[in-house]
Amino acid sequence: MHYTDLHTHMLFGVDDGAKTEMDMCRMVDASYRDGTRTLCLTPHFQPTFYGDNRAAADFAFGRLKAYAAEHYPDLSLHLANELGYYTGCRLAIHEGECRFLGGAFLLMDFSPDTTLFQIRYAMDELLSSGYRILLAHVERYPALHGEEDLILDWTRRGALLQVNASAFSRRASFAMRRRIKKLLRRVPVAAVASDAHDVLFRPPLLSEAEAFITAHYDADMAHFLLSYGPSKIVKGESPM
Ligand SMILES: [Fe+2]
Repeated sequence: MHYTDLHTHMLFGVDDGAKTEMDMCRMVDASYRDGTRTLCLTPHFQPTFYGDNRAAADFAFGRLKAYAAEHYPDLSLHLANELGYYTGCRLAIHEGECRFLGGAFLLMDFSPDTTLFQIRYAMDELLSSGYRILLAHVERYPALHGEEDLILDWTRRGALLQVNASAFSRRASFAMRRRIKKLLRRVPVAAVASDAHDVLFRPPLLSEAEAFITAHYDADMAHFLLSYGPSKIVKGESPM
C-alpha cells in the first residue's frame, strides 16, 4: 500500500520538527522507504509561540521540492499548516495567513493542557464560522477522554478526525490502546498520520500502524485510514 501522510513537521528551521536541511532530507528518505508517496508538510502555525515562520517554511519547502525532484520524482508534496489554536486566531485564518490542507481543511491542534471548555469554545467558534476542521491527534487531549458524544457531534457538523500512527505502535501504552479501541468503536476517524518530528523518536513511519490495524481490525480499515481517507483530504474532499 502507498500511504498519504498528511501531518508532518519535516521542514527545517520553522518549528519543533527538523532542525537542519540534512534532518529534513533524512526524514523524507525514511518516509519514502516506508511507502509514503503523498506527503504533506504541516509546520505549526502559532505566531504567539513560533513567530512568523511563513517565509522560512516557503524556503524549506522549496529546498525539499528540489531534493525530492532529484531523488523521488513520484513523491507528491503539499504545503499546509497545523494551527495551534489561540484566542484571536480567526482573524489570521480569515486573512489567509494559515494554510489549509487541500485548500479546504484546517488541521487544528490544542496544547495537551487545554480545558474541555476551551476546546468546545474553539470548535464551536470555527465550525459555526463555516471552517472545515481536521482535528489533529484526537486521542491526545486529556480533556476529551470520555467525551465521545461531543466528538461525534463535531463530526456530524463536518469536523474530521486524525489519529497519530504512534497510537498503533508497539510502544503505545495500555491506556492509549484502550482509548483508541473505544474511539474507533464510537466515532468515525478519517485519517492516521505520522505527525513526524524527527527520524528517531517521532518518525515519519506508517507501516507499523498498517500492520497493527490490519491485525486488530482489518485490511480495508487500514487502507481507508492510511491511504483513501488522507488522499481525499489532500484533494480538499471529505472521505466520510
Ligand atoms: Fe503536529
